[in-house]
Amino acid sequence: MSQNPVSVTVAADVAVISVNSPPVNTITAAVRDGLFAAIADIRGRQGLAAVALVCEGSTFFSGADIGEFAGPPKEAEYRDLFRQLEQLPMPVVAGMHGVIMGGGLEIALACHYRVAVPETRFGFPEVTLGIIPGAGGTQRMPRLIGVEKTLDLILTARPVDVATGIRLGFIDAEIRGDVREATVAFAQGLVRDRARARRTSERGVDPATAAPAIILRLTAQARSQYPNRQAALTAIEAVSAAARMPFEEGLLYETELVNGAKATIESKALVHVFFAERNTRKVPGLAADAAIRNVASGGVIGAGTMGGGIAICFANAGLPVTLLDSSQEALDRGFGVIANTYDSMVKRGRLTAAEKEARLTLIRGTLNYADLKDADVVIEAVFESLELKRKIFKALDEVAKPGAVLATNTSTLDIAEIAAATRRPGDVIGLHFFSPANVMPLLEVVRTDTTAARVVGTALDLAKRLKKTPVLARVCYGFIGNRMMEGYAREAQRMVLEGATPAQVDGALETFGMAMGILAVFDMAGIDVGVNVHTANASRYPPDPSYYQADFALHAAGRLGQKNGRGYYKYLPGDRARHDDPQAIEILGNTARRLDIAQRTHGTDEILERCLYPLINEGIRILEEGVALRAGDVDVVWCAGYGFPRYRGGPMFYADSIGLKTVHDGMLKYRDLFGPMHWQPAPLLARLASEGRTLGDWDAERNAQGGIR
Ligand SMILES: NC(=O)c1ccc[n+]([C@@H]2O[C@H](COP(=O)([O-])OP(=O)(O)OC[C@H]3O[C@@H](n4cnc5c(N)ncnc54)[C@H](O)[C@@H]3O)[C@@H](O)[C@H]2O)c1
Repeated sequence: MSQNPVSVTVAADVAVISVNSPPVNTITAAVRDGLFAAIADIRGRQGLAAVALVCEGSTFFSGADIGEFAGPPKEAEYRDLFRQLEQLPMPVVAGMHGVIMGGGLEIALACHYRVAVPETRFGFPEVTLGIIPGAGGTQRMPRLIGVEKTLDLILTARPVDVATGIRLGFIDAEIRGDVREATVAFAQGLVRDRARARRTSERGVDPATAAPAIILRLTAQARSQYPNRQAALTAIEAVSAAARMPFEEGLLYETELVNGAKATIESKALVHVFFAERNTRKVPGLAADAAIRNVASGGVIGAGTMGGGIAICFANAGLPVTLLDSSQEALDRGFGVIANTYDSMVKRGRLTAAEKEARLTLIRGTLNYADLKDADVVIEAVFESLELKRKIFKALDEVAKPGAVLATNTSTLDIAEIAAATRRPGDVIGLHFFSPANVMPLLEVVRTDTTAARVVGTALDLAKRLKKTPVLARVCYGFIGNRMMEGYAREAQRMVLEGATPAQVDGALETFGMAMGILAVFDMAGIDVGVNVHTANASRYPPDPSYYQADFALHAAGRLGQKNGRGYYKYLPGDRARHDDPQAIEILGNTARRLDIAQRTHGTDEILERCLYPLINEGIRILEEGVALRAGDVDVVWCAGYGFPRYRGGPMFYADSIGLKTVHDGMLKYRDLFGPMHWQPAPLLARLASEGRTLGDWDAERNAQGGIR
């Protein structure tokens, strides 16, 4: 049996409730049981003048146990526990450190006094999980700081520091030194001052903080900040209720609202992505191989857009990195961009000048392969040419130390062919960063059939140190993300040839929740970049004369996207805002005539279905082929790398939520209209749809069998 994570000790006349539930003192069922027992213990003792509640380890309670969301509601238990804590007859002081979120903050609000050491942070992140604070937070916090400020905290969902907590009025004091000792000292001070129990629940809410104009403003803010979402609006309802309902009634109302929120697709989707992101590093069969290499330094070949960004990732993680290019001029250009990136971080207050210097000194430039001999991992990011990359890997093979991970950032090439240029193909892997590499969280880790487990493990571990979300994939054209992008982009381009405007297509996608419409993405990335990829890969493309022809037509007219102010849209100098451009529309119309494509209008539903169903269908093929390990991994790729709305859970979760039969029937509908070339349902989609099952079921079943390897 596991040990009770909660203990009570008495120092003079102060009882100290101390919690030790690693790693982050989540309020699990065991912690709650321990707290109930601790409160009963304190009630049974004589002569206590105050209580201090503290946690050991890295933080005060980090929050509620999100794993319990799926089970029976726990709100009644939380209410009861926090009420018992609050009803203790002597002053109760929460002594805090670390990062305290959600339920962790709510338990502090049920204490009578709150103190914290410097660097402590507090937040209500619930709306990012589609819910609202459900353990009294919506009723207690407004009694301390008012309705408006409580909602500011909940809607921003970002943690605040101690000074802000004091200014807002929910923190009493900053303490210094050892948290436990300082909290006990604070409690003893209260005793000396004859301070009494001071119950949050017994306070009133200042009605001026819930004035109609404030609620209207916050509602408008919630609607624009959280489009298509309910949780922020529910939070406004719950918190403003505190101003009109007695405390106990407000608590029951909060419970009703939070349980309603947990049942929404929004919440289930956000919780799904939350766990999916934490699961991507779990690879069946990998644990057995423990020989993960500790990366102490890295190398990057190619100081261009990607190489420079990757070097910054290493330096940001405190890892020295050697950056190699083929000419001094290219190196200088690369270092110029890196310095600019850091300068702008300093300008925006994200970095101090000293930190910038420290990071820059971690990046060393070279023209000489011998300088890569000590690197534990080398990532190649030169031009996308198989011949060039093979040449580089051959050179790398000559100098790299035994066991070093040799990685390529290729987007489209066969990594096995690159690996075959070395005498150690087992050490070769794909590390597919996204642009800008120092910003985008996604990292596709691509293994060949010969990549050693040790190398996969090292890559996943490195990803964590570089603060990336890795997703494991097998080699195929486009890996997971770009392969799924193919049908999505194809249909968007086809629809602007059929007469939809770029703004209509992008507008539909953005209203659905995509961070940016796909045609605007092409303008941003450069239409020439897309055309180069299409040209290089023409041989593998299907025999469809309209395939990516919108890109080709705009490119032929000299429209390169944002970089020259003209692409699918028009851009004005010094401004990234896109404007409809009749010239672009005319070029697209002419192309349609040449290709004999009839013009018509498109509804939002058609735009979404034609973009999303092929995306989903390809994701399912990827699962079926074992290119991705789990549906959740595919969802992470699209949420972390392609701006798919997290509140829809990623494309696989979204497909489950609308029903695989809907997706399957949609594929058949468009197959009837446009023919089978692009609209053949994946066999797994057809099977699951006919069985009435979901990808979630399929994932769970395979996990239970040990997962694919
Ligand atoms: N740009 C993106 O959005 C993106 C995203 C993911 C992956 N990728 C992939 O990353 C790789 C690099 O792309 P990029 O956009 O950074 O290209 P880039 O043109 O910006 O940079 C390439 C760099 O490689 C250098 N180089 C060329 N030949 C070399 C050699 N023989 N030895 C050493 N250095 C050499 C060039 O001087 C240049 O600095 C490509 O494989 C690309 O497919 C690009």
